[in-house]
Amino acid sequence: MLDKRVAELLNEQINKEFYSAYLYLDFAVFYEELGLDGFQNWYEIQAQEERDHALLFLKYLQNNGGKVKLGAIAMPDKELKDKMDPLQFALEHERYVTSLINDIYEAAYNVKDFRTMQFLDWFVKEQGEEEKNAEDMIKKMDLFGDDAKSLYMLNSEMLGRVYTAPSLVLD
Ligand code: FEO
Repeated sequence: MLDKRVAELLNEQINKEFYSAYLYLDFAVFYEELGLDGFQNWYEIQAQEERDHALLFLKYLQNNGGKVKLGAIAMPDKELKDKMDPLQFALEHERYVTSLINDIYEAAYNVKDFRTMQFLDWFVKEQGEEEKNAEDMIKKMDLFGDDAKSLYMLNSEMLGRVYTAPSLVLD
């Protein structure tokens, strides 16, 4: 049986992950308008991954007797003007998500909920990767974004990203 606070935080995380998907879809729309189809592709796939994350939290709650209550997903609220903007907002957002995962981890730790801690281990690692990806994209845009030819190549690199299902599977 899940602790009440831990269950609440896990349920809230479903919404946060769906919001992440919505936010990244908004970034993809912005890049489509700019004609940067590689960055569009990268964020469309990122949105799919966030949806996967949401469903993992949902499934974990269901598998462990927690109450799933779905709430409204907030409107993406970032003002996007420049091709660098989504990248910086993404890093800021991933750091925030890391803090949310850490908060759930701490709540689970406080009640010796080792099962939830083990479930969250995957997300702790994932957040490390997501923050690194976001940082790398900012660095590359900073280095190459102002040169048309380099930007074309960077966009082509982003176009090569393909969706892969999460390595964490819950029955
Ligand atoms: Fe689900 Fe980007 O963290």
